[in-house]
Amino acid sequence: MAVNISYQGCKHELQDGETILDGLLRHGQDMPSSCKAGACQSCLMQAHDGNPGSKAQIGLKDTLKAQNFFLACQCIPNEDLKVSLPSLADTTIPAEIIGKEQLCHNVIALRLKPSADFPCRAGQYINLLNESGSVIRSYSVANLSEQDGFLELHIRRIDNGTMSVWACDTAKEGDQVHIRGPAGECFYVAADGDKSFPILLAGTGTGLAPLEGVVLDALAQGHTGDIRILHGALSEHDLYHVDMLKELAKLHKNLTYTPCVLNMKHDKEGFHTGPLDQFVMHIMEPLDKKTLHTYFCGAPEMVNLLKKKVFLAGVASKNIFSDPFLMKH
Ligand SMILES: Cc1cc2nc3c(=O)[nH]c(=O)nc-3n(C[C@H](O)[C@H](O)[C@H](O)COP(=O)(O)OP(=O)(O)OC[C@H]3O[C@@H](n4cnc5c(N)ncnc54)[C@H](O)[C@@H]3O)c2cc1C
Ligand code: FES
Repeated sequence: MAVNISYQGCKHELQDGETILDGLLRHGQDMPSSCKAGACQSCLMQAHDGNPGSKAQIGLKDTLKAQNFFLACQCIPNEDLKVSLPSLADTTIPAEIIGKEQLCHNVIALRLKPSADFPCRAGQYINLLNESGSVIRSYSVANLSEQDGFLELHIRRIDNGTMSVWACDTAKEGDQVHIRGPAGECFYVAADGDKSFPILLAGTGTGLAPLEGVVLDALAQGHTGDIRILHGALSEHDLYHVDMLKELAKLHKNLTYTPCVLNMKHDKEGFHTGPLDQFVMHIMEPLDKKTLHTYFCGAPEMVNLLKKKVFLAGVASKNIFSDPFLMKH
């Protein structure tokens, strides 16, 4: 029997196997969404009647689950549901832009001061909403926000991208935004208090943001094991924070940082030239695979390739943390 979704006073019939997000979009509703893969939480909705199912609640905070919130892109309901979009007041808090810095030709750092307590682990991601709440995108937290008193995001400008073009070209200090979250499991964990295991982190582009967050957290918590961070880019001018990470590595003898450039005209000291995945496997060789924790973030194809390669090389799946930056198709 066909399932009906009541939304804003109208009933919309879903096709067989159709998600609520796709169904409402097909019926002409303007729905916030981005990845359509359960990774960004921008399609959050609330069910008032009926059960959205636990699969549509994977990754949500317990407080949201308890109030019947769910991800519309993951919800293929078995029964009729009455649903709404969350109000800004219920699920977000205002934040002020207190700083903006150009990190390289197409990446900015955006610093946000939340208007209320916003507990967050470095490396997790938050949802950034425009003023009306109609555009929602995810960005990873690159700093120790509770210690610093602000959240730092690294945002890459995507040509014609709704949020990233606004953030890079228009947003200015003093502007107000809304934030929701945090979410995601890409953060430092000292399992059973042990801080001596090796950590390998690799990412492309702004995938550096969560990796930098994890490194800063690990160092702040006194991690003693090897930490190796690799940042991949197509060309040298796509890299950022090179000097900052080199300085950090000088201060901590267990930290090494290597920028990896795919297309470098001439070899340069301290830089690796060639594909990131091959270099990750090379760097991993001497590390103890049984205890190694790996973190991969950024371009989804690279993240998935690295996850597969390190798993096949013997790293336990529970020790492989990742955030593929899935975007709108
Ligand atoms: C968990 C998570 C964490 C994330 N963290 C970050 C982060 O820390 N920093 C960051 O910059 N982004 C991050 N992203 C991506 C971010 O959420 C947005 O998707 C991105 O900023 C684009 O949004 P937009 O509104 O500017 O573009 P949209 O309006 O959503 O449009 C994007 C369009 O660009 C096109 N496109 C897709 N990929 C590319 C590409 N590689 N190059 C050019 N065009 C493309 C597509 O056609 C798509 O329609 C993250 C995503 C996820 C899921
Ligand atoms: S989680 Fe549903 S659109 Fe990203």
